[in-house]
Amino acid sequence: MFKNVAIIGATGAVGQIVRHLLEERDFPAEKFRFIASARSAGTTLTFKGEEYTVEELTKDCFAGSDLVIASTPDDVAAEYLPAALEAGCKVIDESGYWRMKEDVALVIPEVNPQAALDATGIIASPNCSTTQMVVALKPLHDASKIKRVIVSTYQATSGAGLQGTADLFDGSKAFLEGNKFEYKAFTHPIAFNCIPQIGGEKADGYTSEELKMLYETRKILGDESILVNPTAVRVPVANCHSESITVETEKPISPEEARKLFEAFPGIKVVDDIKNSEYPLPSTCDGSDLVYIGRIRKDISHPNGLSFWCVSDNLRKGAATNAVQIAELLAKNL
Ligand SMILES: NC(=O)c1ccc[n+]([C@@H]2O[C@H](COP(=O)([O-])OP(=O)(O)OC[C@H]3O[C@@H](n4cnc5c(N)ncnc54)[C@H](OP(=O)(O)O)[C@@H]3O)[C@@H](O)[C@H]2O)c1
Repeated sequence: MFKNVAIIGATGAVGQIVRHLLEERDFPAEKFRFIASARSAGTTLTFKGEEYTVEELTKDCFAGSDLVIASTPDDVAAEYLPAALEAGCKVIDESGYWRMKEDVALVIPEVNPQAALDATGIIASPNCSTTQMVVALKPLHDASKIKRVIVSTYQATSGAGLQGTADLFDGSKAFLEGNKFEYKAFTHPIAFNCIPQIGGEKADGYTSEELKMLYETRKILGDESILVNPTAVRVPVANCHSESITVETEKPISPEEARKLFEAFPGIKVVDDIKNSEYPLPSTCDGSDLVYIGRIRKDISHPNGLSFWCVSDNLRKGAATNAVQIAELLAKNL
């Protein structure tokens, strides 16, 4: 069992869920600490019925801890997490900064648990839209190698943190009341709108969020040959990312076979009954730790193609749940 667990970014959208999950799943540890920026230091929060004072993140704050679960912006993770490693902590990071570094394990426990157990450096949790997609791809890839993926995302505002959620609610209210509103997390109004840009511009006209879905998928599946063509879109949904995914496999996988593969895979729930209008929705997947799949059908444009719809709670399996599952895996193998 870990003795002293430090939750960094404990006040944020992801950090709050990490706290709930550690309570909900009764994560075993002797002591917990909650750390954030100077803005929150000194405020109090309740965990397992006890009141805790939020501490300020400094490079010295890791002494005495043996596990760190960090959910901060990239620049903060870049600056502070090496100090946590030096202090001897196991470090699980939710940010995008460390994921693609060579000596960093990028882990989804249902997909590549051994990478976490072998890790000597930081263990990174993937990008939220990547995680749910790779959970869905893994059973298909094991049955017949995936050659190509075309994915369009419909990403919730909570993916942009607490400010993203505030922007959706306050911006929608202002819109309905006919008032002007200044968005902080988004470059365009998100109320009653869709924004086909998440992250900054990168190579070939793709965004950083889109390229994460390519490079992180290859790293987690350990297959540099997989082709991924992503389009990431922010939509006015509070929580849960949705994805329309089409895969081309080496040998064809029928919808019936795919359904069986999905149903047998841990962490996936199939909801797929179009006759009765049943399929995963952000509103029904909110608060769940699972990856939901529906609308499973043959790609009528390609003999080896399969299309489906995938929804998951980005704050849970896309972030906090995945990190806590990694922590549980490490704890079991101490
Ligand atoms: N939201 C998602 O769906 C999601 C999914 C996967 C990964 N992630 C990643 O997870 C990380 C956290 O995202 P979030 O959505 O939780 O963001 P958020 O709601 O903005 O929370 C950010 C957290 O980081 C803390 N923080 C910010 N600057 C800091 C500093 N200089 N020193 C110490 N702590 C600092 C904040 O503390 P204060 O409250 O004191 O400001 C807060 O606790 C990001 O890297 C994000 O890309 C997010």
